[in-house]
Amino acid sequence: MKYFIDTANLNQIKEAHDLGILDGVTTNPSLMAKEGIKGEEAVNAHYQAICEIVDGGDVSAEVVYTDFKSIVEQGKKLAALHKNIVVKVPMIPDGIKAIKWFTDNGIRTNCTLIFSAGQAMLAAKAGAAYVSPFIGRIDDSGWDGIELIQQIANIYAIQGIKTEILAASIRNALHIIKCAEAGANVCTCPLDSILGLTKHPLTDIGLAKFMEDAKKFA
Ligand code: G3P
Repeated sequence: MKYFIDTANLNQIKEAHDLGILDGVTTNPSLMAKEGIKGEEAVNAHYQAICEIVDGGDVSAEVVYTDFKSIVEQGKKLAALHKNIVVKVPMIPDGIKAIKWFTDNGIRTNCTLIFSAGQAMLAAKAGAAYVSPFIGRIDDSGWDGIELIQQIANIYAIQGIKTEILAASIRNALHIIKCAEAGANVCTCPLDSILGLTKHPLTDIGLAKFMEDAKKFA
């Protein structure tokens, strides 16, 4: 499974990249707004800065339009920013139409706001490189996000679909482990959830004892 970071914060992207395990980045309009970036020029410069940090890894840049023509116009501009940009398109009829257009024109897409297997099937049919099921938001609404990952993984395996399942809306380290078990190809996570994978109380206790004993032969 590949590890992406779900943020537009350059320091957090650098920190995850420095761990040596980062495969890519996902952003969305809410994450970009959180960084206080304003205007098309600044937004595009920010995407380029992200691409330079994770050189070689995919970076999802989301369109902010809901009609076919505008999605295609903005997507073309985003894709031209850097070879690793993947255009993130919402799961709506015009989004599907745009994904098909991008596919036919050699531009890779990530279909976002996926909450059902049917949506994941249609996005794959249109040629999306990735689908992004929102695990945490499904859990928040009283359903089981991991079950959706399993269902999509099962359908894609049976049907021989190559679209990658990019598990998003990750809330904690356990989500990451469960996504790997369920068959996600990629997990996009906040930095805290990635760092959460390093943690175990017995590791802390064991390390404290080793450090203490190391003083005895220093
Ligand atoms: O980027 C999409 C997704 O990861 C959003 O997560 O935490 O806003 O539900 P969240």
